[in-house]
Amino acid sequence: MSQALVEAALAARDHAHAPFSNFRVGAAVEDSSGRIYAGCNIENATYGLTVCAERVAIFKAISEGAREFRRIAVAADTDTLTPPCGACRQILWEFCGDIEVILTNPRGAYESLRLAELFPRPFDASFL
Ligand code: THU
Repeated sequence: MSQALVEAALAARDHAHAPFSNFRVGAAVEDSSGRIYAGCNIENATYGLTVCAERVAIFKAISEGAREFRRIAVAADTDTLTPPCGACRQILWEFCGDIEVILTNPRGAYESLRLAELFPRPFDASFL
């Protein structure tokens, strides 16, 4: 359990731009030095250009030079804890491999998984 990472994901959720779904998500990824990068979902009127919180967080981290990651936390206001979508699982696998994925909500529910559980038999650069 990383309380700081969970708190960062919950705080990022407050910045969600989700006027179309009203489904607000926050994510925070921790790199190998312990630095945390947070993101929220950012929706678009075309719908298809929406970017999930997880991808905003990981792309922020990559763009700031981070390359090795320990874990990611994902926060949404659901009792059945919200997991990353399929597109985000692919992106997370590409940059993070089999990291810990922490699912949480504002009421303190918490679940820890491995990305390989959520994304078995991935396609990745090893096939190219
Ligand atoms: N969303 C995320 O940001 N992360 C998830 O793990 C699930 C879905 C966003 C995308 C969209 O803005 C809204 O939630 C509804 O799908």
